[in-house]
Amino acid sequence: MNRVWRIDGARQTLVLGSREERLASVVYWGAALPADEDLLGLLDADMPDLTGGMLDAYPEVSICPEASRSFPGEPGLVLTDAKGLHLAPRFRYESAVEGEGHLVLTFVDDDLGLVYHAHFAIDPETNILQSHAVLEASQPVRLHWLAAPVFPAPQSCDEMIDFAGRWCGEFQPVRTPWATGGRVRNNRTGRTGHEAFPGLILPGRGATNTGGEACAFHYGWSGGHRMVAEELPDGRRQIQFGHADGTEMALATRFETAPLFSTVSDTGLNGCAVAFQRHLRDRIVTWPDPARPRPVHYNCWEAVYFDHSVDELKEIATRAAALGAERFVLDDGWFGRRDDDTTSLGDWVVDARKYPDGLGPLIDHVRSEGMTFGIWFEPEMVNVASDLFDAHPDWRLGPDDQIPGRQQFCLDMANPEVRDHLHARIAALLSAYEIDYIKWDHNRVLPAPDDAQTRGTYALLDRLRAEFPGVEIESCASGGGRIDFGILSRTQRVWLSDSNDALERLRIQHDAALFLPMAVTGSHVGPRVCHTSGRSHDMRFRAWVAAERHMGFEMDPRELTDAEAATLSRVTAWWKATRDWRSTADILRLDSADASVIAEQQLSGDGARFVVFAGLAQTSAQIAPRPLRLTRLDASARYRLNLVNRDDIVGLSRGTPALKSGPVELSGQYLMRHGVTLPWSFPDRIWVIEGKRL
Ligand code: DGJ
Repeated sequence: MNRVWRIDGARQTLVLGSREERLASVVYWGAALPADEDLLGLLDADMPDLTGGMLDAYPEVSICPEASRSFPGEPGLVLTDAKGLHLAPRFRYESAVEGEGHLVLTFVDDDLGLVYHAHFAIDPETNILQSHAVLEASQPVRLHWLAAPVFPAPQSCDEMIDFAGRWCGEFQPVRTPWATGGRVRNNRTGRTGHEAFPGLILPGRGATNTGGEACAFHYGWSGGHRMVAEELPDGRRQIQFGHADGTEMALATRFETAPLFSTVSDTGLNGCAVAFQRHLRDRIVTWPDPARPRPVHYNCWEAVYFDHSVDELKEIATRAAALGAERFVLDDGWFGRRDDDTTSLGDWVVDARKYPDGLGPLIDHVRSEGMTFGIWFEPEMVNVASDLFDAHPDWRLGPDDQIPGRQQFCLDMANPEVRDHLHARIAALLSAYEIDYIKWDHNRVLPAPDDAQTRGTYALLDRLRAEFPGVEIESCASGGGRIDFGILSRTQRVWLSDSNDALERLRIQHDAALFLPMAVTGSHVGPRVCHTSGRSHDMRFRAWVAAERHMGFEMDPRELTDAEAATLSRVTAWWKATRDWRSTADILRLDSADASVIAEQQLSGDGARFVVFAGLAQTSAQIAPRPLRLTRLDASARYRLNLVNRDDIVGLSRGTPALKSGPVELSGQYLMRHGVTLPWSFPDRIWVIEGKRL
């Protein structure tokens, strides 16, 4: 018998169908279908024709393609029994549980004692479809690969976009043309990774940031993912996401993929980006105090590194507060005998040489300056030169002769004793002091990937959060090495990159906005000479680039000239004045006609106001600034635009574009079809334009 199901959101419909009781396939996924669509008719219509040189029917691209059914591509499930013999399931329909916007399908293989569940749910407001797969076995089996429910990829797209990157260079989009065969990303580092953000975008032919069709995926797991984007020999296409293969080390009777988040758009890449941004901000992250505005951060890392002196830190805190900081984060160097990065990870006890009276005097000072206090940990790690390693060398993860990373090793987070110990140490500090924030770092990859490690870390985070619900946590891993919806369901901020170079940051932020909203994306004003690029940038550029996201400072404020301090205070005040509406705004990437301009428009939830950031990342090829087209405005409404940083106009700008001399009032239609004419500028500068609907 054939069966069909559909679930709907306001802007998308998912139709699944099972033929002759076999595993279901996605029959349709895209813009919302009419309510009276004949779903069984779709199932018939979906069947491609046959010709010579083919089997007599198509092996289905099901939600878990089965090798046992002559499927010519990557199967959705690879497993062996306890003796290592391959199992080749042939699932049959068992049951379906349907509800408003959600669906669970169950299929069984009685001969092998296997049960497969596929879960689907569409969020009606964020336009995100969430799915995951569960496999149960009557006897322990070894899982090599389990894909979250598999989606067909549209035929109307010519390329795919996934993400590469590196330390200080996260979120690098990689465009690959579709061709017969598969593109596989298999991240076996045991960490989400700078180099492997688990996302995929499939732009329809001709799609841009602001127009056209697209669909996109994100796999919410922090232990490293595998993605298969494959065009079969017959031209059909499939998308698979799961944990990196071979990372379930133990025989077991139950396995579950992480959630796969997906979305479709007919408003270009921005439609997908906005769905991910909103879903992350409004559904995934849990905010201890949602009413509390995001505080401006000060982080002392690039000011003092390991060289902590209470008096100096107090002076820095006083200056940071005067600039507008509202939370002071004490970074690495406060514990054990941590004078450099060779020792003390694991010894989470305040260093009495640096803090003879504990952290109390510094925290009291920070609070007296009107700031709250945050502190750095790297819980999952240990140095050999530490009391912890002396006491428990067996708590180290992996073999003795493994390659260290930053002179450190991972602890075995699957071991409950390790978790109990870390919990006790961290909880002791959180109980002893008024701490409202943890920067949780993870500075090396695992010696070998192991899903139990990620589950252990999640368990420790969950336990601490249950006990200290008021404490916010930042996910850091040498910058953006652990950014995904799995870790973000347990944290509230990401340290996007260790690069505080405003020019690099401008690009990283722009590409990260394909998934991340402003509220979670940390961005700091670094030292005048950037420590990771050696470049110097004007404070105007550094401050405004940080102001695009969750703003903070990370330089030694004692290095600032009066003029720099004044600029930073002014931009910070602007950030505070706009943060309420911007924290819930959509970040819309603009299609700049000038390849040198990286531009975005942050649009308030009610569409009544926006701010455009247009950064000149290099000198333009042409001499006349090209108009910058805006997006998602009301064509018939009029808007007043004002150049917020008019003072930054340079002497070489000699013309008279109206925006230079005062606010301009223009229609949405003009702004979207023609664009706003920007003043001429030096490179490494950014224009900030606020707009209000009249
Ligand atoms: C790497 C982080 O990304 C930095 O911000 C800083 O916290 C260092 N670790 C500290 O060791």
